[in-house]
Amino acid sequence: MNFNRRNFIRSASVLAALTISEMQALAAKSQIVNGGKVIEDNDEVYWHNVRQLFPLSKEWTYLNNGTFGPSPYPVIEAVHNAMIDQDTMGNYGGYDSTPGKLAKFVGANDDEIALTRNVTEGINIACWGVPLQKGDEVILTTHEHVGNAMPWMTRQKIDGIIVKKYTPGATADETLNRIAALITKKTKVIATPHIPCTQGQVLPIKQICKLAKDKGIMSLIDGAHGAGMMTLNLHDMGCDTYASCCHKWMLGPKGTGFLYVRKEFQDTLRPHYGGAGTDNGKWDLMTDPVTISDYAPSAHRYYGGTQANSLYAGVNAAIDFIETIGQANIYNRIKFLGKYTQDRLLEFGNKVELLTPTEAKSRCAVNGFKIKGVDYHKFYELCSDQKIRIRAVPENGLNSLRVSTHIYNNTAEVDMLMALIKKSV
Ligand SMILES: Cc1ncc(COP(=O)(O)O)c(C=O)c1O
Repeated sequence: MNFNRRNFIRSASVLAALTISEMQALAAKSQIVNGGKVIEDNDEVYWHNVRQLFPLSKEWTYLNNGTFGPSPYPVIEAVHNAMIDQDTMGNYGGYDSTPGKLAKFVGANDDEIALTRNVTEGINIACWGVPLQKGDEVILTTHEHVGNAMPWMTRQKIDGIIVKKYTPGATADETLNRIAALITKKTKVIATPHIPCTQGQVLPIKQICKLAKDKGIMSLIDGAHGAGMMTLNLHDMGCDTYASCCHKWMLGPKGTGFLYVRKEFQDTLRPHYGGAGTDNGKWDLMTDPVTISDYAPSAHRYYGGTQANSLYAGVNAAIDFIETIGQANIYNRIKFLGKYTQDRLLEFGNKVELLTPTEAKSRCAVNGFKIKGVDYHKFYELCSDQKIRIRAVPENGLNSLRVSTHIYNNTAEVDMLMALIKKSV
């Protein structure tokens, strides 16, 4: 289903959760949406109406978009309709429009997008596809998600590459300096996250990719939190690969993702596994020796087999949903809530340690923190008891907490978390 103004209003009315005046406000505002105009980041009526499009429980406060983003009704409906359609008509395929739609969404070309099930899969395709030898060095952070750590660590174990790591600095400049200091003649890859899962710091990714390029190093980015949180222009970013998903900030179906592979880099990145779609269709098993044809002249060489057609219909609907509201409007709202959260956490003074930089360009939707003298996991459990979902961060010994907010959240929900922290300090 295309997500347009009519559907926007219809989905909301199906829920019957809006008052007449809210519905009128929604109708008025959706004209603003479709006119491409600015929606204020603190326009609570507008964002309240957006919230009505999500099937989120009223009993729970969901502050964990960094793990996955709940889908709005138009996305769920698109998945349902595509399944019904496929299962009644018996048609095969149908996901073909998704790479092109995703490409436009992230500032790339159709032939640079491979469909994946999640970020981990995209990272693995990139990690195992780059030609590396024993002793070659790869730079990671000390804030990795297991999905970016494990592929490289496994390659260290199997192929003898060397994983080196830096801790992101409090400012973009400091981060860049730390990466530069790690580079040696043996450095072949910078495999940094765009936004680490631990505390949501926005790393200076364009400068990191430039640094890599200037030194002849490959930049293979873990972009789990980029797509949907901010407007991406991957060509401008200059990375070689960017692994992301549609199930976090894009609010799409869970188990959908993509890997961007820069066109010129496709000659360097070997296809990790083959299947339908990997070659140009001319393979022949009956010749002797067998005929191995050329790879598909696109990123389709990196994935094959039956795809989750209905889920990709949901991805298309998620992009429509985002574009109806406007990527810039979403980014501003997300950033507003992230700053609001930071400011409230800072009010606790030295009782709460904020782990996310306050530098404007280094922060966005996600905040990491520790409560002095309070076990992180106990506080996480307390939140669950109170029906507030945040994330505990045991990764790499950080033992901290993470709060992440999206457009369906509001300041009152953040305040509920703060009230719980207040009781605990
Ligand atoms: C930074 C980062 N990288 C990779 C992943 C793995 O993502 P997926 O579960 O889609 O494979 C996540 C998931 O939370 C993440 O936050």
